[in-house]
Parts: sequence; C-alpha cells; structure tokens
Amino acid sequence: MEQYIIKGGNPLVGEVEIGGAKNAALGILAAAIMTDDTVRIDNLPDVQDINVLLEAIGEIGVRVDRISRTSVLINGSGIGSISVDYEYIKKIRASYYLLGALLGKYKKAEVPLPGGCNIGSRPIDLHLKGFKALGAKTRISNGAIIAEADHLRGNHIYLDTVSVGATINIMMAASMAEGRTIIENSAKEPHVVDVANFLNSMGANIKGAGTDVIRIRGVEKLHATEYSIIPDQIEAGTYMFAAAATRGDVIVKNVIPKHLEATTAKLVEIGCQVEEFDDAVRVVATGRLNNTNVKTLPYPGYPTDMQPQIGVALALAEGTSIVTESIFENRFKYVDELIRMGADVKVEGNTAVIYGTEKLTGARVSAPDLRAGAALVIAGLAAEGITIVDDIVYIQRGYEYFEEKLRSLGAEIERVSSEKEIKKFKLRVG
Ligand code: UD1
Repeated sequence: MEQYIIKGGNPLVGEVEIGGAKNAALGILAAAIMTDDTVRIDNLPDVQDINVLLEAIGEIGVRVDRISRTSVLINGSGIGSISVDYEYIKKIRASYYLLGALLGKYKKAEVPLPGGCNIGSRPIDLHLKGFKALGAKTRISNGAIIAEADHLRGNHIYLDTVSVGATINIMMAASMAEGRTIIENSAKEPHVVDVANFLNSMGANIKGAGTDVIRIRGVEKLHATEYSIIPDQIEAGTYMFAAAATRGDVIVKNVIPKHLEATTAKLVEIGCQVEEFDDAVRVVATGRLNNTNVKTLPYPGYPTDMQPQIGVALALAEGTSIVTESIFENRFKYVDELIRMGADVKVEGNTAVIYGTEKLTGARVSAPDLRAGAALVIAGLAAEGITIVDDIVYIQRGYEYFEEKLRSLGAEIERVSSEKEIKKFKLRVG
C-alpha cells in the first residue's frame, strides 16, 4: 500500500501546469465509441480513472491506441459486446456513461449497477428516467441494468435534481434518437459543455449546453473528429487552495479562469490575492487567512469537489466558518482526520462549523475519497512536522503526477510504500 509522506511548512511557490479534465474525459471517451470512425482525443489526463475506462472499453471490443501520454485514438467499429464488465464499474462509477453511449448507438446496453460510493448514496434514477422517456425499456437482471429500445424517440425530459451524470448520459443517447429532445433543469458544468461540444464535433446537434435547457436533434450517424479536452477545474482549484493554505505564491497554468470563478471568489474572500490571465491564475497568500461561509451548489455555484480543500484552508483561518454540503451527504469524512491534525471542527448533518486554529500539526491520516485525500495532502503541506497520508489510491484516481507537481512548487512530499522508505524520508528532511 502506498502512502504520501509530507514534511509541512514550506510555502508553495512557482508554476504548475494543469491537465485535462477527468470528468469531461470520462464522458468524452464513452461518447467516442458512438461512431465507427476513428476519433482522436487530446489533453487526456493521465490518471487512474481514465486508464480504467480505456481498459473497460477495450474489453468490449473498442480499439484503443494510446499515441502519447495525453492523446488517444479510439475506434468503436469492432464492438462485439454491449455488456460491460462489473470489475470496471466497481472501480469507476462513471463507466455508467457507457449505458447512454451504447444505447444511443446500438439501442441496447448492459452495464452493472454501480456499487455504493464513499461520498454518499448515488442513485441513477434520473439517468433511467431519461432513457425511458426516450422509449427504452430498462430492467435489472443479475445486478446489471439492461436498457433497450426498438427505436429511440426524442422527448421532453425534466430532471428533478440537477445531475451532471444524468445530463451527459441522456445527451449521448438522445444524440442518436429520432427527433428532438429537450432536457430541462440540466446541469451546466463545464464538462457537460465539453461533452456536448465533442458530440457536436462528431456531427451531433446539441444546443444550449451550459444553460439549464439543452435541445438535441437526433442524427443517424456520428463521424470522426479530433478533440482536445478542457483543463481540469478541480485539479486547478486544488493547487489554488494549496497555495492559500501554505501562504504561497503559485501560478496555475493551462486553465480557463471563467471555470474557476466560484473558487477564485472564495479565495479572495479569505484574503488571498488572485490575478487572472488568459489561461492562468496566480494565487498569493501572505498573512493568515480569514474565515468565510460556503455552500456547495451545482455550477456556477461553489463545487462540491472543492469542499474539502476549502475546509482545510478554513481550519487554518482566523475566526469561525460554516461549510454547508448540499450535493452529497457524506463528504465530511476528512474532518475526523483533520481533527487528528489539530483542527477544531464540528459536523452536524450537512454542515461543518470550523473554528480556525493557528496551526495544524503532522499526523498519520487516511484518504477517505479522492478530493478529501487531496485536501489532507494540502493539510500536511501546511502543517508543522511530518504527515503520512494512507490510502492514496483514491488520490491517484484523479490527480496526475500529484507529488511531482507539488515538489516542483517546493513541497517536501514523497510516495512511499514501506517503513524503510518512511525512515529514509525522515532522515533526509531532518
Ligand atoms: C459528478 C462528478 C462528481 C461531482 C458531481 C457533482 C463525474 C464523473 N463526477 O458526479 O465529481 O462531485 O458531479 O458536481 O463527473 N442524483 C439523483 N439521481 C440521479 C443522479 C443524481 O438523485 O439519477 C443526485 C445525487 O445523489 C446528488 C446530485 O443528484 O445529490 C448530483 O449528482 P450528479 O451531478 O449526478 O453527480 P455525478 O454525475 O455522479
């Protein structure tokens, strides 16, 4: 089992380059199998979730040709099975995007029900509601969802909750349905727009992505394209908060500043200077951070995927902050770990009251999920002394070259897998 070992206390200073958006890439890779032509995708993030999805599509007969670390050629003409293996869905929930992609292309898909996830219950009823509205029958058999239709026909679909996954999944299936689909109360996240742009570049006819009404006119066939994925706003935001919590000065490059507005606004509120460039942002934190309140909301609100990171910064701020999590019920699991590092936080239901403390001290903690894991690394970088973060497989799911990028900013962090390596690190950093 690998761990991160961190000697905290160094302000992060320098420049860091952000990779492609993981959550956009998951949708785009699934959509790429909807044509029999070869599709080229660039700016692919080199993270575990993406590698697992590439394996999953390879398994059903898709030709996957990784031409470089960040580029891949996908050819879905040889798909021999519409049934996805449980092993993959267990590892990445987002392989449920193959439901919408296969249903759109072949009018039939079989994907195992995603298992429970550690950030709360994550139903997919809205995805299924959408498929049914398009004329598909859905049933559950032997733990898998089977969706099939003689014809898919466009329809008017209202999403009861704003859901990124349901919006993307329905958009994919509707792109190859007959006639017009309208998705109301759709998610507006940048990665929804990116998947829509990608599908449009393959010949789909999707309008309104990025607003809460998406209109899709179905087409019979999709075709080849070359497409570059947008930068990862959550990876970017994570480095922005790492700069804030360590009182550093970091230029985060290859970003779309507009996508970071909610994060930027909160950083400014807590006393950081944020400078925006065309495709970069600079975050400078000098003194102690201020308290604030924050509530997670669908885009353009403050992202739930950035909640643990701001939680760590606020644990070090002056005064009391209130963090309300309104998307997933189980996203405060990092708090117990943070308390072990000296934070003063009380969680009640979906609210955390954070009483800022002047310093955190290093401890052995464990990553409860992807973003919470990254937040604990930030805590370790800001803390006095040595922090060991266990269960870093979660972090590797979504951050490419995490420790390398942090080291390039002056962090003392290493990935280790034995007591011997831990000792060696401690000896080296003194
Ligand atoms: C995506 C992101 C995840 C992010 C989340 C919210 C991917 C791969 N993952 O997850 O990182 O935290 O958006 O921004 O892009 N819901 C239902 N029924 C459904 C679907 C969702 O009730 O059928 C509820 C969920 O329980 C949750 C809310 O809707 O409370 C939002 O979930 P959703 O936007 O669907 O999240 P994901 O797409 O799973």
